[in-house]
Amino acid sequence: MRVLGIESSCDETGVAIYDSDKGLLAHQLYSQVKMHAEFGGVVPELASRDHVRKLLPLINAAFEEAGLLPESIDGVAYTAGPGLIGALMVGAATGRAIAMGWGVPAVGVHHMEGHLLAPMLEENPPEYPFVALLVSGGHTLLVDVAAPGSYRILGESLDDAAGEAFDKTAKMMGLPYPGGPLLGQLADKGRPGIFVFPRPMIDRPGMDFSFSGLKTAVRLEIAKHTVDEVVPEQTKADIALAFQTAVVETLTVKCRRALQATGHKRLVIAGGVSANRQLRARLQEMAYKEKGQLYYPRPEFCTDNGAMIAYAGYLRLQAGMKSDLSLSIRPRWSIDELESL
Ligand code: KG4
Ligand code: ZN
Repeated sequence: MRVLGIESSCDETGVAIYDSDKGLLAHQLYSQVKMHAEFGGVVPELASRDHVRKLLPLINAAFEEAGLLPESIDGVAYTAGPGLIGALMVGAATGRAIAMGWGVPAVGVHHMEGHLLAPMLEENPPEYPFVALLVSGGHTLLVDVAAPGSYRILGESLDDAAGEAFDKTAKMMGLPYPGGPLLGQLADKGRPGIFVFPRPMIDRPGMDFSFSGLKTAVRLEIAKHTVDEVVPEQTKADIALAFQTAVVETLTVKCRRALQATGHKRLVIAGGVSANRQLRARLQEMAYKEKGQLYYPRPEFCTDNGAMIAYAGYLRLQAGMKSDLSLSIRPRWSIDELESL
């Protein structure tokens, strides 16, 4: 089965073609980051308009890359939520309409299920069951994954998502949007132990997260070192490292708890923040101690992309699921509401 996948839930337009025998045949991405950077964050209306401009040309480019004609597609998958409503509508309406035109089924995919399944596109994919840590700009979730489509939320963020905490902290340091990866690079220059921030909620039982207090602690520390609106570069790097270490330690402790609570040995990390090097290294170390194994997608599939949507859509279409012609978009949608396969 060959599936066209469309991602447009936020500020990336992603298109991919997945073939169940041959794997990924094409993968095209257009990032709107530069356009939103000017405003310090995603402007939803601008995002929708840009998806409208970029989506069809990207679909064309994907077919060219794969050397295929549209009639060779067996189904279309689009992100149906969660995400920005206008942005989702562009991908959903386009995906649903071309599927109708081509006489093939279409299916709406849950964006976080896409992230969760992204490691399945790598050479040594994890077997089921596993624990998944999903850390993106909008969500922080720990999920018990029994089988594809069978998800139980073990913990989630009570306030800011991990990526959001990275972005907001980066903004306080004067880094451009989206600051997460830049903050990670700044932290590489930081000296360990100069600053120590609280590890949110690790002293409390359970697997939920909270990052807003940490953000406040960072803000106060930055204020202490600001002279004439300037913070010395080395101090910024030291604070960035202390912040990143607090987030990484918190995520690691909760992941260890999740492995112990479920008895699973495999840990999957996905979503934008899973590209963070310190997080990967620390989780690798923890998984090794727990006699487990860590899995993650290649860097380009950590952040939003069409490939993960094409793959998740393929699993659902193959199981006979399809969306009807009246589109339903779910800007808010919990992953544990999904129909299992
Ligand atoms: O999954 P994603 O592309 O979009 C959402 O679904 O939200 O995640 C984007 C988030 C942003 O907050 C970005 O700053 C963060 O992932 N991010 C990182 C890194 N790369 C991306 N955060 C920390 N370190 C990184 N290397
Ligand atoms: Zn995402």
